[in-house]
Amino acid sequence: MDERLFEKIEKLKQQRNAVILAHNYQPGEIQDIADFCGDSLGLSIKAAQTDAELIVFCGVQFMAETAAILSPEKTVLLPDKSAGCPMADMITAEQLRELKQQHTDALVVCYVNSSAEVKAESDYCCTSANAVDVVESLPKDRSIIFVPDQHLGRFAADRTSRDLVLWPGYCATHIVITEEDIKNAKAKYPETVVMAHPECTEPVKKISDQILSTSQMLRYAKKSEAKQFIVATEIGIIHTLKKQNPNTEFIAANDRAICPNMKKITLEKIIWSLEDMQYKVMIPEEIRIKAKKAIDRMVEILPVE
Ligand code: 13P
Ligand code: SF4
Repeated sequence: MDERLFEKIEKLKQQRNAVILAHNYQPGEIQDIADFCGDSLGLSIKAAQTDAELIVFCGVQFMAETAAILSPEKTVLLPDKSAGCPMADMITAEQLRELKQQHTDALVVCYVNSSAEVKAESDYCCTSANAVDVVESLPKDRSIIFVPDQHLGRFAADRTSRDLVLWPGYCATHIVITEEDIKNAKAKYPETVVMAHPECTEPVKKISDQILSTSQMLRYAKKSEAKQFIVATEIGIIHTLKKQNPNTEFIAANDRAICPNMKKITLEKIIWSLEDMQYKVMIPEEIRIKAKKAIDRMVEILPVE
């Protein structure tokens, strides 16, 4: 890493009383300089807890929005305003309102990978780490709409034996990983443990050993005796997996599983962001208040690990 860039970021952080939060898919050097790295659930909790006045969010739009929803008194900056999540954009608030009209008795669970407007139309938010627990906690006599990720939704439906109304959204990065990739990897490395993210397709998850959120993968690898893993998720996480477990081998299930939006953040953009105080995440107050209710209900339901 360029020491000058690192020193500059440290100086600006102190001047601005800022904290840098980064998702586990961020480029390696950004994970290295962040004050906190995590999955969507961990980042949401951290954003709510921090005393800093300024949060520089190294991730994608919905993650920075979640931080802004939880911490209205803080300024939240996204260093590249075009860093979105295509899955989150697969459903609009208008489309969700129409779906609710077709299922008037249903509770709505939205994956955190959704816009603030969609969260505001939802009863509960969830992340990949607690989707099963959130669905499990809902009254058995109510039907449930789950948006936007059909794969996470199906996973939660299977694990809870609940019948969910699913929206056909998906992550273009995770569906790159195929059943064939896992079968080939297993044939080549028969002793290996396969960790897959719930956003992977059902055939991939079916033949994987562990279905985990990104931070759950980090925790699992640390405590496991296994010395080799196939990692079926965005490959950015392999940086920290290797760093934390130098004697363990981590193999990408598919090395084309790269989220282009996550890679838009660079060290230079973090410096410009701190210097120019851009790009501020702004959410209309009435949307923020409604969206916060759904996130608060989620934060209360921590995953059973
Ligand atoms: P995690 O919450 O597991 O980190 O997942 C976030 C995400 O965007 C997965 O594609
Ligand atoms: Fe969105 Fe997929 Fe990128 Fe996660 S990996 S931010 S779900 S596009």
